[in-house]
Amino acid sequence: MREGRAHSWLGDPQQRSASVENLQQRIEEACRAVRTRFHAVPKIGIILGTGLGGLASQIDQATVIPYGEIPHFPESTVESHTGQLVCGRLKGLNVVAMEGRFHFYEGYSMQEVTFPVRVMKALGVEILLLTNAAGGMNHQLQLADIVIIEDHINLMGDNPLRGRNDDRLGPRFPDMAEPYDRQLISLAQRCALELGVSAQKGVFVGVAGPNLETRAEYRMLRAMGADIVGMSTVPEVIVAAHTGLRVLALSIVTDICLPDALEPVEIKKILAVAAEGGERLARLIPRIIEQLDRLPPRQHA
Ligand code: HPA
Repeated sequence: MREGRAHSWLGDPQQRSASVENLQQRIEEACRAVRTRFHAVPKIGIILGTGLGGLASQIDQATVIPYGEIPHFPESTVESHTGQLVCGRLKGLNVVAMEGRFHFYEGYSMQEVTFPVRVMKALGVEILLLTNAAGGMNHQLQLADIVIIEDHINLMGDNPLRGRNDDRLGPRFPDMAEPYDRQLISLAQRCALELGVSAQKGVFVGVAGPNLETRAEYRMLRAMGADIVGMSTVPEVIVAAHTGLRVLALSIVTDICLPDALEPVEIKKILAVAAEGGERLARLIPRIIEQLDRLPPRQHA
């Protein structure tokens, strides 16, 4: 046991710096593999959440790359996730979309979960759009509502930036005053209004999962200031902030989590509600992309 610790990844400075070098190298190798099949520089990266893959079918001139064909990409283990990178054009802009993401609860490390975000940045992505399925704890939320995430609480018990920092990828202590871009939030609100789709802003709390929460836990999360809860997004957004991407994240409320009126949820029901909300997201997101040329520059550096 003691010997194991002495040779642990964190304990050995040489191994630690090798691992930092490896990350940069792994990013470059993955990036090269994508570039050989998709030659354009994508401006937008999209990560599609549970049951929310519908948008991918709107991508024109699509080059579809299964994750298994991208070096160092972990393979998705969740049945409801397809596990492929869809590269092409959406509303005239070059995009790369992850149809299926990696979750911490699947057993991947935080670094594995967020590796695709690093690759997107290396490909040239400037704006990251994420979707997810979330539990609604604010009593004003209804099933299948869209929530525009305005801030988050990391309660996942880990952090993708833990360990030695590679200064080429981002700062040691990244600022988190505004990881969700204010201008993108306003644009999303405006687009939702134009489409007649309801979308409220809310605070997302990320938990490790895979179990849903107990009543006491929902009570605690709500008291902490969160409106919605989910098992993804937070790691990707932390890495996006580290690497300097503008972020917009949209949730679909797939279950209502009021502690005093809690009903057991089934994953099948969550997926059905995600599909319903996903249809609205598949209208909202292209509308947002269409109007990105009118996006004011970032206010918060
Ligand atoms: N809790 C955590 N994650 C979730 C939930 C929930 O209630 N619903 C969808 N993802």
